[in-house]
Amino acid sequence: MKKILVLHGPNLNFLGIREKGVYGEMSFDGLNEYLLKTAEELGLRLEVFQSNSEGDLIDRLQQAYFDRVDGIIINPGAYTHYSYALRDAIASINIPVVEVHLSNIHNREEFRHTSVTAPVCIGQIAGFGAYSYILGMYALKMKLNIQ
Ligand code: DQA
Repeated sequence: MKKILVLHGPNLNFLGIREKGVYGEMSFDGLNEYLLKTAEELGLRLEVFQSNSEGDLIDRLQQAYFDRVDGIIINPGAYTHYSYALRDAIASINIPVVEVHLSNIHNREEFRHTSVTAPVCIGQIAGFGAYSYILGMYALKMKLNIQ
């Protein structure tokens, strides 16, 4: 079974509380249950990690390298727009990474239109709510050639 890591960045633990008009009603726990259930159906072994700290996210990315994780789905939250450190960590690990966003960052404030992390990912999926993560799983399945 392929090992997939889902990394949630800052403030995503506040889903269901924060800006419901933008991010929806689903709670963070509800989102993770949905992801774990779907991964099981797709035959993927999923682990989920969330942190509000840039350094913890970088440590987890580096750990994924040593754990021989097969693929990563990351929602870097606001770090997407300015964290060169996170970008360098993604570029360092030789693991396919899909960047996902609940909202469509391209039709929001201008500062959200830039992703410094997407260029070192295999692709970006934005705007489909929780389903962005599911599409990320399908993208990794395709990339890892799993039937
Ligand atoms: C987000 C979009 C980011 O701009 C924002 O800072 C977030 C969430 C999303 O999933 O839509 O925290 O990554």
